Amino acid sequence: MNVYDAVDSRRSVRAFSDEPVPRAVLERVLTAATRAPSSGNLQPWHVYVLSGAPLAELKRRATARALAGDPGDEREYPMYPADLVSPYADRFSAAAAQRYAALGIARDDPARSRRIAALNSAAFGAPVVLFCYLDRSMGPGQWGDAGIYLQTVMLLLRAEGLHSCPQVMWTLYRRTVSEMAGAGDGLVLYCGVSVGYEKEGVPRLRTGRADMAETVRFVGA
Ligand SMILES: Cc1cc2nc3c(=O)[nH]c(=O)nc-3n(C[C@H](O)[C@H](O)[C@H](O)COP(=O)(O)O)c2cc1C
Repeated sequence: MNVYDAVDSRRSVRAFSDEPVPRAVLERVLTAATRAPSSGNLQPWHVYVLSGAPLAELKRRATARALAGDPGDEREYPMYPADLVSPYADRFSAAAAQRYAALGIARDDPARSRRIAALNSAAFGAPVVLFCYLDRSMGPGQWGDAGIYLQTVMLLLRAEGLHSCPQVMWTLYRRTVSEMAGAGDGLVLYCGVSVGYEKEGVPRLRTGRADMAETVRFVGA
């Protein structure tokens, strides 16, 4: 698979089959992803890969919290700016509307937010979730590095026929995640990435994007 195809075919999959992902494949991907660049070559990411019984237990605990309407652990970083302005707010709403329509969750469903949280906390059925942490001492530059790293992982997963869904939602249950992963207090959870093979027969969601000219300015020849 060439890089253009990997970028184009990566999308956030929200329905995974329960087919296990071989450990050797995960190791191949995560070994290749060590080549991701980072400012000063700090490689600030810390990744915990959960599957099998520990992941099943994490899903069980997180789903129980979601269904109980638990508002989540206190935030360590804001998911979004408090005052999300246009055009970002418009993009956010458009993507959310598309996403939840695809999942069959109506706008006016009174259980909407719990249903969304419960789907997320079940990792959309994925058999593997990678949890990406940063050392608490790291700053915005290193958070950017972690994003570059995760996209590298997600593109490599495509080369293996696998799909993924990054999920900031796991930070709501970060204490439960850290307990199950064995991550220490010195680390801050950035997000989880669900990994697996796509479930067959589920409609594919291709989210929109701003045109290139909306976000890029060429200056000079
Ligand atoms: C850091 C990060 C966190 C995300 N968190 C969630 C999440 O908690 N739940 C979810 O369903 N999607 C989540 N997404 C997926 C975005 O909604 C998705 O990337 C965006 O709508 C574009 O769609 P696409 O990935 O299918 O191209 C996240 C994406 C990123 C990069």
